[in-house]
Amino acid sequence: MAKYVAQQTGKNVEDVPYDVLTSPQLKEEFGQATFFTATDGNHGRGVAWAANKLGQKAVVFMPKGSTEYRRKQIENEGATVTIEEFNYDECVRLATKKSKEVPNGVVVQDTAWEGYEEIPNWIMQGYGTMAMETANQLESENCKVPTHVFVQAGVGSLAGAVVGYFTNLYSNATKKPKLVVVEAEAAACLYKGAVADDGNPRIVEGDLETIMAGLACGEPNTVSWDILRNHADVFVSAPDWVARLGMRVGGAPIKGDTPITTGESGAVPLGLVTAIMTMPEYEDLRKELELDASSKVLCFSTEGDTDPERYKNIMWYGEDR
Ligand SMILES: Cc1ncc(COP(=O)(O)O)c(C=O)c1O
Repeated sequence: MAKYVAQQTGKNVEDVPYDVLTSPQLKEEFGQATFFTATDGNHGRGVAWAANKLGQKAVVFMPKGSTEYRRKQIENEGATVTIEEFNYDECVRLATKKSKEVPNGVVVQDTAWEGYEEIPNWIMQGYGTMAMETANQLESENCKVPTHVFVQAGVGSLAGAVVGYFTNLYSNATKKPKLVVVEAEAAACLYKGAVADDGNPRIVEGDLETIMAGLACGEPNTVSWDILRNHADVFVSAPDWVARLGMRVGGAPIKGDTPITTGESGAVPLGLVTAIMTMPEYEDLRKELELDASSKVLCFSTEGDTDPERYKNIMWYGEDR
């Protein structure tokens, strides 16, 4: 959003630090806009937060099944938020349509499609920051190159940024890490595209019911799909129990490890690694991935207890709602 404001006012984003961005002078220069987005929670909360700081309006559409807690968190940032009767991908279309009905309506969507690529590319660059910070942290922990990277995907913007970053960073490494993309089974569009193996993405329709709300997206980001199909090594379609397993292993790890509060969409990489390493039925996958005691595995956890009530229900009572 900073990049958009900078672009519209003829500036470089580097020349617009936070205090300038949020100043009344810049607001006057930029004018009044309304930022539209669809979200299953986290992205929309970010858009609403930023619009609030910029003195701009935000309108956010959430898919069927979104929790009232997550809706409220976005509303608390001053946005207009509704839970719709259809899935994330339909909400994206609604946001696009509605943005055209008001003056200065701008779609800030975390997925790309043909003809809408500039803003999602900026969002992917933003996600790349996570990969960069991780690489710096690995370096400081004396891990030059991990053997495996597990990253979760909804539309694939985050995974595309992470896979793109590490592919580039380790392009000269003697042994490159295996890059694993994991999706919620109910919305495994990238996985289906990989299985079809004809270069074309696949779309998953319907309610996309999964506890991994952040990953409940059935239509891939077209830019990410291109990166992932060329550079990811393995695509995994994971049922909800894998996410629950990751949440529990994170929250109650083996003695001596630091507990991590990792929510449904955040925990699925850790859950997957745990399943592969501990369950005999996944031995084939373990061998295929060459995972063993010498592996140095990097997992991304992208959310904490973003819905604390649901987090508690899963962790304490083994319930999904
Ligand atoms: C917690 C969480 N993890 C991962 C993702 C995946 O992002 P993407 O849709 O870019 O694949 C999201 C997306 O909103 C998310 O909310």
